Amino acid sequence: MKHLETQINKLKLPSHLAIIMDGNGRWAKQKGLLRAVGHENGTKSVRLTVENCAKLGIKNLTLYAFSTENWNRPKLEVDTLMKLLISSLKKELKTLQENKIRLNAIGNLTNLPEKVQRELQEVIAKTAENKHMTLTLALSYGSREELIQAVKKISDKVKNNIISSDAIGENIINEHLYTHNLPDVDLVIRTSGEHRLSNFLLWQVAYAEFYFTDVLWPDFTEEELYKAIISFQNRERRFGKTSEQIS
Ligand code: IPE
Ligand code: IPE
Ligand code: MG
Repeated sequence: MKHLETQINKLKLPSHLAIIMDGNGRWAKQKGLLRAVGHENGTKSVRLTVENCAKLGIKNLTLYAFSTENWNRPKLEVDTLMKLLISSLKKELKTLQENKIRLNAIGNLTNLPEKVQRELQEVIAKTAENKHMTLTLALSYGSREELIQAVKKISDKVKNNIISSDAIGENIINEHLYTHNLPDVDLVIRTSGEHRLSNFLLWQVAYAEFYFTDVLWPDFTEEELYKAIISFQNRERRFGKTSEQIS
């Protein structure tokens, strides 16, 4: 499907693409396989998507890999996901270096098993100087938790006279989110036919475009990625203005 890629305008790429990678479990179930096999196959789509985003020239890619709510899954599944995370980080360091991708992580990372934290910090440190793309993994991430910790930090600063309450605006809030070094999200993709945010980047998607597809995450190919970007590029983002003001 080479022709789809040629339809993409490289000058109008989303500067921040965020993906809710959903449907690994159903993919496995449809095939009579264990959910773990679905997650394993999901990692292949992760690698492909990361490489293709880097190839296109997308500057910021954020992947929702594990939510605060996902801790409520059966322990066996949580353990499987953590193990997969460790092995993927080990395996993909080379891919990240070759494509000059910097790894970043957002979420309540201290809740992750120590082994995951160590592996994560190692890959983050080793890729810190890469400038081509920032890949952010949302791990043990919940948007409400992110907002709560931001409110706490800001109120502490007000209490200690570091900032005045009058100074609190969008910038101050942005600076206290896990995503402080990332631009606003331009495009959100969610796979598997669900039409919800599931506690993902609630503040950051205020003016994002949404793209939903029924494709399950392990089946998310480069053509699917291109379709989403082409759809994004054909939309008129008005930011509250009239169509005439935009053109
Ligand atoms: C997404 O696939 C992966 C994670 C949430 C970790 P799911 O595991 O949610 O797959 P479904 O939604 O059950 O099909
Ligand atoms: C959202 O998927 C979280 C991730 C993709 C990591 P879920 O499968 O956990 O979402 P819900 O529970 O269906 O809303
Ligand atoms: Mg799901």
